[in-house]
Amino acid sequence: MSTKQGRKIAIVGGSGSIGSHTLSALLKTNIHTVTAISRSESNATFPAGVIVKKGDYSDESFLVSALEGQDILILQLGIFSVDQQTPLIRAAAKAGVPYVLPTEFGSDPYSPLAKNFPMLIERKKKYRDLVEELGLSWIAVVNNPWFDWSLKHGNWGINIKEKKATLYKGAEGKLNTTTQRKVGEGVSKLLSLPDAELETFKNKPVYLSSFEINQREVLDSAIRVTGTKESDWKVVVRDADEVIAEARKEVAQGNHMAHIMEFYITHMKESSGGNYQAKATKDAEVLGLKDEEDLDDVVKAVVDDITTEN
Ligand SMILES: NC(=O)c1ccc[n+]([C@@H]2O[C@H](COP(=O)([O-])OP(=O)(O)OC[C@H]3O[C@@H](n4cnc5c(N)ncnc54)[C@H](OP(=O)(O)O)[C@@H]3O)[C@@H](O)[C@H]2O)c1
Repeated sequence: MSTKQGRKIAIVGGSGSIGSHTLSALLKTNIHTVTAISRSESNATFPAGVIVKKGDYSDESFLVSALEGQDILILQLGIFSVDQQTPLIRAAAKAGVPYVLPTEFGSDPYSPLAKNFPMLIERKKKYRDLVEELGLSWIAVVNNPWFDWSLKHGNWGINIKEKKATLYKGAEGKLNTTTQRKVGEGVSKLLSLPDAELETFKNKPVYLSSFEINQREVLDSAIRVTGTKESDWKVVVRDADEVIAEARKEVAQGNHMAHIMEFYITHMKESSGGNYQAKATKDAEVLGLKDEEDLDDVVKAVVDDITTEN
């Protein structure tokens, strides 16, 4: 096991959905100096121990001064604000920050999925290219759909609250999926690697995964942890391609959220690119990430979260 290296790390979006997990994992190491960069109009708050710099992203002098002396810039911007990466990357180049983790945190940019889902995957290439053009290095964090977040939002085709599930016939493949906690831990382990090991990820993805799993296994876990029987659930089986065709029709009629359904089902299809287990196993070894997550514990936490919300 390699020794850890402390760094100066700037994070944008550090109070967000994935940013908060990343920030807490970085702080837990006690070896990094973490600076959160946030918009002046933001109501975001940050834990003690974080240096906070609030300002306007159109103000280059603010960004450059916030980034001077940083070793890493993590960009975890919300899905509707990914374009805000441009001024931040340009400022990082001016400030001489060697590494940028751009707003990826999704599916494998080198899988067939990328071309099939240009708006969700392929469009992120522009920012990796910009980082390289400016002479910096990027590392793209690949985590596929966040497991717990997706379960909570019903994206696995499973509605825990109503005990309903739709299983997709023809999409029974095992895909990789990562909990938000593990994404944070993975980023923290990556950025704690000594220089020589961090360099091996230069301009490459790092693959994270909590589970290699199919929809049926997620449903079985939900049944176990809710203490129910399958007969307590309304489970329907639908042809995956039919559901995709319907989703495309809905998108054409203006419901762009229907695209998400196609996105998930495609990940569940064999050879779609939704399974990168070999790469995740290899990277977990380099990062020293242990395989200690228990599926039922994670599903139980989501069930409890949904229950206490009501
Ligand atoms: N794998 C998956 O299942 C999955 C799911 C969803 C998203 N993602 C990926 O993860 C990324 C991060 O998503 P998230 O859900 O963590 O993001 P989020 O919580 O929605 O937002 C993160 C941060 O973005 C900043 N922000 C929001 N609006 C902004 C604006 N107009 N201009 C500049 N900054 C703005 C905010 O930071 P401040 O308030 O501090 O400025 C916010 O805390 C996404 O872009 C997407 O690529 C992956």
